Formats: sequence, C-alpha cells, structure tokens
Amino acid sequence: MTAFDELHRTALALTTRGKGILAADESTGTIEKRLKSIGVQCTEENRRAYRDLLFSTKGLSEFISGVILFDETLRQKDAGGTPFAEGLAANGIIPGIKVDKGTVDLPGHPGEKVTQGLDGLAARFDEYRELGARFAKWRAVLSISDDLPSAHAIEVNAHALARYAAICQAQGLVPIVEPEVLMDGAHTLTRCAQVTEAVLQAVFDALHAHGVVLERMLLKPNMVVSGTECPQQAPAAEVAAATLTCLRRTVPAAVPGIMFLSGGQTDETATENLNAINAADGAKPWALSFSYGRALQAPVLKAWRGEVANVAAAQQALLKRARLNGAAQQGTYHSPPNGKTAT
Ligand code: 13P
Repeated sequence: MTAFDELHRTALALTTRGKGILAADESTGTIEKRLKSIGVQCTEENRRAYRDLLFSTKGLSEFISGVILFDETLRQKDAGGTPFAEGLAANGIIPGIKVDKGTVDLPGHPGEKVTQGLDGLAARFDEYRELGARFAKWRAVLSISDDLPSAHAIEVNAHALARYAAICQAQGLVPIVEPEVLMDGAHTLTRCAQVTEAVLQAVFDALHAHGVVLERMLLKPNMVVSGTECPQQAPAAEVAAATLTCLRRTVPAAVPGIMFLSGGQTDETATENLNAINAADGAKPWALSFSYGRALQAPVLKAWRGEVANVAAAQQALLKRARLNGAAQQGTYHSPPNGKTAT
C-alpha cells in the first residue's frame, strides 16, 4: 500500500458513520484556562490526568474515530505507562496532532490574525508520525465586523492552510484544514454565510494551487450561525440550510468529510445543529460530522472538578455527548422538549 492509499483510508476511517473526532488539542495556555475554571492547577501531571480521563473512557470508540492531541500529550503516557497514542490506536481510535503554533497579529491589519508554524514543519511531521500520529490539524482564525475580514487576511490564511496541507500529505499524514470564522459579534446569519463562503472559496483555490489531494484531507469549518450578540438567533433549520448552501457552493465532492468545530456553541446547540444539517434534504456528497472541543468537554470538566471520585461521572458525561453527536451525525438525534435535557 502506498502512503497515499493509506492517507485516503485514514480520511475515510475518520468519517465512519455515527462517529466523529474529539478535539483535545488545547495548547498549554488554553487548557490552563479550562482547568482554572474548575479550580484545578495547570501542572503537567494534571493536564496528563485530565487527558487520561478522556481517553480511557470505556466505549468511546463506538462514537469517536479520532482524537486530536497537543504536542505535550502525544509524548505523555496513561496511568499504566502506555503512550496515549499507542493506547488510543489499540482501542480503534486514530491519534492526530495539532501542528500550528497559534495566531499572531497580522501586520498592518488591526484586529486580524495569521497562523504561524510553517518553518521546520516537514521535520516535525516526521517525528509526529514516528510517535503515532496519523492526521494533523492547522487552525486559521477570521473575525467578522462591519469591514472585516479583509481580503488580505483571507488570502494569507488560505495560503498558510494550503502550505501546511501540502507538507502534511507529503510527509504521510492526513491534513485537517480548519478555517474558523469566529461567532463573536452582532452580525447576522446572512453575513456569516457571505464571509464563510468567501473564506472557503479562497481556501479551496489555495489547496488547488498547492496540489493538495482532496481525497486525502478533511475540512473543519464553522457552521453558518448568527453572531453571538445578534438579537435574531437563527434556529437549527436555518443554520442547516445556510451551512449546506455554503458548503455545496465551495467544497468539492472529492473531500471525504466535513468535521465541524463547535466554536463556542453550547453542547446541546452544537448537537442540534449537526443533526439538522444531517437531517436536511438535498445533496450531501461528503460525510458531515463533528470535531468538537468545547461542546464535548464542557460537561466533562464540570463533572470532574479535579476529583478522583468524579472520574466515572465525568467519563459518563463524555460518553453521553459523544453518543448524542454520533446520533446527530446520522440525523437521528431527538432534541428534548424545552427546559429538558437529552439523555
Ligand atoms: P471547539 O469545538 O471548542 O471550537 O474546538 C475545536 C477545535 O479544535 C478548535 O481548533
């Protein structure tokens, strides 16, 4: 089997029906915020113990096809001394790695960012493959305001994503391409749709220019939603229709899967919206699934609070969200009536 066949197979395995990806690749700064929010100190051991809790959840592989790790986590071991990547793979879950080095201000463009981490990337991929990673992630961030994002920010971020994806495939890993249009702001659903369409169009132009093989990658976009401060919050059916219109216009059918980020939606809303997208009529030539961070982990952190005695409850909380999102991937999730929680 050539490396390229392996990449296509990995991309397809990540999009298995009823499964999605757990994004557990928070950088040290981000996981510090999450741990602080539950009163847990951000030591290396606490970060390890938290990830151990997530990955040792019994039954997780029924709903989770892959996990995205941070550099430090890929080098850590579970309580029994097995490297996390090895334990996950033995359990049928594909290990992945976040390879971008975060965002920096885009010079001359106040309020805009560009993602860094391209220098030395090929050599880092070689090591990550050795450590067991089979796919990777690079996140670009674009903000919406009355006059943002600028054409320049869209272009440089698309360029970096395409450079990353081409290097990733050349080194034998599947790239997840993540252009995130942030939810922050008072903008409408229509404005989010316009910006997301422009961003995805630029990203696929760049992927094409850089020779990225579409069958051997996955896309991780935002859903088309109303801005968090918008007084008119579009319901799930409108989110689904706008998201699918945008994706049909921009994402070639050769891409095996579109794995949405949750982007700050509540866990229940992220599940409802994914379900509405999968339940909607019309052409859907790609698998449509999840690669959620916060929407899978928020209830876990809340249940755990750093206490050994709460580990089982926290794992149940993770399994529940994974199972409900697995159903949403198939369009068979039933939202609970108002005021009730899904079981
Ligand atoms: P959220 O689902 O919390 O947006 O995180 C997904 C992710 O991987 C962001 O890069």
